[in-house]
Amino acid sequence: MRTRLLPRVAFYDQHPEPADFFGEVIDGLRHRPRRIAPKFFYDEEGSRLFDAICETPEYYPTRIEKRLLAEHAQDIARLMGRGCLLVEPGSGSSEKVRLLLNALQPSGYLPLDISKDYLIAAATNLSTEYPWLEVHAACVDFTNPLDLPYCPHGTHRVAFFPGSSIGNFDPDDAVEFMRNIARMVGRDGGLLIGVDLKKPTDILERAYNDAQGITAAFNLNLLTRINRELGATFDVRHFAHRAFYDAEHGRIEMHLVSTVPQRVAIGRERFVFEKGESIHTENSYKYAVEEFHALAAKAGFAPMQVWTDAASLFSVHYLQVNTLRQ
Ligand SMILES: C[S@@+](CC[C@H](N)C(=O)[O-])C[C@H]1O[C@@H](n2cnc3c(N)ncnc32)[C@H](O)[C@@H]1O
Repeated sequence: MRTRLLPRVAFYDQHPEPADFFGEVIDGLRHRPRRIAPKFFYDEEGSRLFDAICETPEYYPTRIEKRLLAEHAQDIARLMGRGCLLVEPGSGSSEKVRLLLNALQPSGYLPLDISKDYLIAAATNLSTEYPWLEVHAACVDFTNPLDLPYCPHGTHRVAFFPGSSIGNFDPDDAVEFMRNIARMVGRDGGLLIGVDLKKPTDILERAYNDAQGITAAFNLNLLTRINRELGATFDVRHFAHRAFYDAEHGRIEMHLVSTVPQRVAIGRERFVFEKGESIHTENSYKYAVEEFHALAAKAGFAPMQVWTDAASLFSVHYLQVNTLRQ
């Protein structure tokens, strides 16, 4: 692990190797159905496009979650405990944590993200805005067990996982991820987590098919990134964004669909796409509150409080570790 000090931020680089990116993309394209993990969306442009998605009128989760966090910041701070060490996996722009900082007064904040340059910029901005806050940023892949680079003895730890990113895991993997969080925060630790709720299909499908085409650009940017970083030959004009709700699995699926028969090279590997063949790029599971509580219980968390909006579109949960499962 390399460590360097930015003007105000300690930065730890555990960035996944390019070889991992190549290997996972090749394995995923050989798999049937073809798939690429959503963590690869987030180069700098992907992170920027994600923030732009959050501004679209159709993408309700960000607006509602921010409102819930702002309205309930004092209650949240009381439950989490002032002076805690606050760890945010997938911190992105670190926008949402700003809604909690004044009420929570954490003793330290650890943004963890796979998108390195974006993380450094976001952590530096945050630290400039909140000079009293100790910020330790780490570039990590949170699908691996979390090993905190900064962990002062005796400070109780709380994780913050907003944005319904938990929905990007299949349910069994979501339990495994939350178990890792439970181990990381320890016996008196907690987890504040945003979870998107089940709702009518048209609202869900609009959120992932915005009229300005920003979600489509975000999805297609994955191929541009693979071309640039892995020397691939995807013709981005011949792939189309597709997102739909699969009610049986309770999830939005995002795909990149080949609009013509075509061949693609990645290094020495060759892939043939039929017209209509797709690469599955993301799942976003939606839960009823009770379904999510059942999942959290399997990971050793007890529900302490849940906040939802009046239309029950989105939920924010505070969970506390009750059993540490190894
Ligand atoms: C959907 S965005 C959510 C950003 C922010 N937490 C929010 O709620 O607005 C997901 C974030 O997680 C990061 N991310 C995705 N997969 C990751 C992984 N495997 N390890 C670390 N960070 C990851 C992305 O770079 C991005 O910043």
